[in-house]
Amino acid sequence: MFPGEGLQIHPRNTESPPHEAGFHATLLDGTPVRLRPVTAADKWRIEEGLSRMSPGSIYHRFCRNVAELSSRELRYLTEVDQVRHIAWGAVDPEDPEERGLGVARLVRDTEIASRAEGAVTVIDPYRGVGLGTLLLATLCALGRRQGIRTFRACILPENQLVIDWFRRLGARTVQEDPTLVLLDLDLSEPAWRQTSPAFSGLTRGIESLQPDGQSKME
Ligand SMILES: CC(C)(COP(=O)(O)OP(=O)(O)OC[C@H]1O[C@@H](n2cnc3c(N)ncnc32)[C@H](O)[C@@H]1OP(=O)(O)O)[C@@H](O)C(=O)NCCC(=O)NCCS
Repeated sequence: MFPGEGLQIHPRNTESPPHEAGFHATLLDGTPVRLRPVTAADKWRIEEGLSRMSPGSIYHRFCRNVAELSSRELRYLTEVDQVRHIAWGAVDPEDPEERGLGVARLVRDTEIASRAEGAVTVIDPYRGVGLGTLLLATLCALGRRQGIRTFRACILPENQLVIDWFRRLGARTVQEDPTLVLLDLDLSEPAWRQTSPAFSGLTRGIESLQPDGQSKME
């Protein structure tokens, strides 16, 4: 099975309420999710999501133990401009509170604007059914649309699952030592057509949506 295969994305239609920016998708096990830009109003969702992650997952994401996030950190994670710092989250559309299920972000390098450091996080109960792939594809598509060419991932050496995942997608090792593995994922389309046709198709599908999530075909 190719990365991305089996995931479905559903563009917004013209009847969707305007506050519902983003798009809907169906995960590999049939779970519906909504993907949308992170906003300042998502601070509680980040905090609540953290409570549904194991200490090990939190350590892999932040490279340190985190019991709770400071208000400064929450501002950094949610008050984003979607240009220098792009962040999208997945929420449960069937939950009246639309709690968060995962989040992905890309923060541009201050010196090389075409390179950005990225991170993907999925809360533990939703792992293994394609949400991480969907979030990664969303950030790759949005980043590429905004001129980002390289997604740089900083991964702890023991986080083998993620190292293997990025390498299967064609990521190049920039640094590998006992403290850190740096991997660069080339966001240009031809690179993926070879290594990951389904992931490539997924990013193209998301890239073809309008900024508000509607299909250009409508
Ligand atoms: C990394 C993470 C986002 C993946 O989320 P996810 O929703 O489980 O991802 P997916 O279901 O899309 O799977 C992604 C890949 O990992 C593989 N994978 C997922 N769970 C796996 C498991 N238990 N064992 C082996 N491989 C697994 C999948 O097969 C897939 O690879 P493929 O597409 O080549 O088949 C999630 O594990 C996480 O939040 N980890 C903690 C934070 C972290 O480490 N982030 C990355 C560094 S910033």
